[in-house]
This record gives sequence, structure tokens and C-alpha cells, in this order.
Amino acid sequence: MSVSLDLTKMNLFLNEEELDVRRKQAAAICRELLERDDKDQVLGWRTLETSAVQLDVMRQKAEEIRKDADVFVIVGVGGSNQAARAMIEALQDREGPEIVYLGNTLSPYYISHTLKRMEGKRVYIDVIAKNFETLEPGSHFRILRQWMKERYTKEEMAKRIIVTGTLGSRLEEIAKENGYLFLQFPIPVGGRYSAFTPVGLFPIMVAGLNADAFLDGVKSAMDDCRMNPVTNPATGYASARNLLYGKGYDIEMLVSFEPQYAYMAKWWVQLFGESEGKEKKGIYPAAAIYSEDLHSIGQYMQDGRRNLIETFVSVKNPKAEAVIEPDPEFGDRFDYLDGMDFDRINKAAEGATWEAHANGGVPCIRLGVEEISERTFGELYYYFMMACAVSGTLMGVNPFNQEGVEEYKRSMFAALGK
Ligand code: PA5
Repeated sequence: MSVSLDLTKMNLFLNEEELDVRRKQAAAICRELLERDDKDQVLGWRTLETSAVQLDVMRQKAEEIRKDADVFVIVGVGGSNQAARAMIEALQDREGPEIVYLGNTLSPYYISHTLKRMEGKRVYIDVIAKNFETLEPGSHFRILRQWMKERYTKEEMAKRIIVTGTLGSRLEEIAKENGYLFLQFPIPVGGRYSAFTPVGLFPIMVAGLNADAFLDGVKSAMDDCRMNPVTNPATGYASARNLLYGKGYDIEMLVSFEPQYAYMAKWWVQLFGESEGKEKKGIYPAAAIYSEDLHSIGQYMQDGRRNLIETFVSVKNPKAEAVIEPDPEFGDRFDYLDGMDFDRINKAAEGATWEAHANGGVPCIRLGVEEISERTFGELYYYFMMACAVSGTLMGVNPFNQEGVEEYKRSMFAALGK
């Protein structure tokens, strides 16, 4: 296991006994989630058999795209693009096509500028939309098809368009009508739980990431949750944050000293925000990348209202080095850093922040990650999904629906004449 949970600072905020009791409750929920009949069709993410489908088809197509494309457009929003984007932004090698994101905004500026950037390039697109009713991916697919129609023959378009949707959706019919490759968005997997389905897997394959290592990581966390329901990081983390929530801590900051995790944090915000924020309940999820954000919200974290939980995602091995060489000629008064590697400097800043914030009244939780890699992304994603499902259940909400998001859509569709 490359992900570990550190609750040592919890003794300042929770007593051991209540944590033990909550861990047992969380473990019972974890077991139940793993074993119950999935009659609501929301638990497909708990096994790779239901989620990681069509691997060979995807591998073959991804190889073609890496060879023949200059630009690969991922069209999707929310759960339909965040997991893949987080991994690509963190790990993509610089060979292969440039990855571009559409279907995630309604900004005319962003759309027109992205299309301009694609001019003269060999383009492939993957349109990811569970039921193909969401405005952003639907409208961008329209624009992209028009754009491609002016540049490619029907046969070329069929080769260059891949769609990822549910069986029986309009997207599947469009794929059949036009000869596009159709990848499955498994029905019993919700958007924000779809990282290990073709939704997440195909884009990371196109980006040249190691999908097998990613799935190995997922599998290892799955086995851990199944075999160790009390001691795995997911139920421990869910228990601590749930107890803290009961004591009035209703904002959680996910923080990391690794900017490589910026989009992972965005993925996490969506997972927890959409899963828990309902029925006037929920911990508000926010994220920050330190040390930069210490210069904006560091003051508040140290000294503001005491309703914040801070979860550190701590990377042990950055797999990079940058040493400051001594040079007396510079006279910059930074000589105390002579000979130091930035890993040491970064870790010193992290350790100091952890101590100062905990002592200042912020319950600090740490998820230690050995290194940032496909494998640890797999573990982290699965642990967070399980933690979210357990935590939502402990809170008494359904972590798999998102009725609240429909509210603004009703007025928006009315305004657009749908
Ligand atoms: O987690 C979810 O279910 C949502 O965030 C969806 O992923 C998001 O709304 C996009 O939905 P769709 O794939 O149907 O376009």
C-alpha cells in the first residue's frame, strides 16, 4: 500500500474512544457498500469487472491517436473529465498529442480560442457524457462536429470521433449512425465515481499514462477496503471528518505542497461537494496548493474562524531534485539554503505548517502518498470514493445522487427555450 493515514493530531480534537466507535460504524457501512445488491445501480465502481471494460479496444485506439493526432480533445464536464484531467495534468509525458479540454464551459471566449488553437492540426475528439443531456458537452459536440465537417470527410470524421456514453443513450445511436467508436460509460457508475471506467481510462491511455499501473493501484485499495474494513485509510478518514463535522467543523481544505495535485484537488472538491452537500448538510470542500496559497489563505487557516478541517496530501518522494548551489558572490542573504535540495525545503515548510495549524486549532489529517504515479492515483481515487460513500452515509445523505444540480438547470433550459 502506498497511501497511509495519519490521525496523530486528532487527539487534540477527538478522544480515542469516540474515534474507535465511529471507525467501527464506518467499517460496517464499508462492508455493506461492498456486499449489498446494487438495485439502485450506483455501485459499479466497487469492482473492476463492472467498471474497467473494453480495455483492448481502448488500447488500440489510443495507440492510433498517439501516432496520428496533434490534438486530442476531451469533451466532458464534472465527473466526465475531472479524474482523467487530474492525472494528465500531473503525469503526462510530453510526447503524443496535445490534450485540450472542451465541454466544460459555456464561455464563447474559451470555445473560440480553443478552436483557433486547433487550426491546421490533426484532431481527434472523445465526447464523454453519461446520458448526453448536459448542455456543455452537448453544445460543444455540436460546434466540434461543424468544425470537423468543414475539414474532414465523413470517413475521416468516423475515425476521429470517439464517444463515451451509456448503452441505449442518444450518444450510442449517434455513434451507430455515423460509425464512431462507442465506449461504454457503465450504467451503474455515476460521473464522479467513473475514474476507472472508459471515462477516465481512455483519455489517460491517449496521454501515454500507464493504465495497468493505475488499475493495479485501484485493485490494491479495493482489496484493502474489503479485507481491512476498520483499518483502511478510507474508513479512518471518513470517521475522523464525520466526527469533526458533528463538533462544528464544516469546512474541509484539501491541501498539498505539490502543485502536481492541483487538478486532483479539483476532482476531490467535486466528489465530496456533489456527494455530501444536500438536505442542508455537508462539509464544504475547498482546496489549496501550498506553499503559494499560504500567502493568500495561510492567515485565515492559522487564525480565522475555527470551523476548518485541513487534510494534507503529503508526497514522500517527489522524484525530482533541485539543489541550491552556494555562491558567496550573490550576497542575497539566502546562504542558509546553501547545498539544500528543494525537497528538504518543501518538507520543512510542510512540517511547520502541519504543526502550526494543528496547534492553532485546526484538526489536521494527513494522507501520506509514497510518490505521484499512476498507481498511487489509483489508490487515492478509490480510497477517496469509498471514504465519500461512507462519509455521506454516516451523515445521512445519499452520496450517489445530485438532485440539487438540477435546480439551476430547469431555469436555464427554460431561458434557452428547451
Ligand atoms: O458526478 C456526476 O454525476 C456529475 O458531476 C456529472 O459527471 C456531470 O454533471 C456530467 O454529466 P454527464 O456525463 O451526464 O454530462
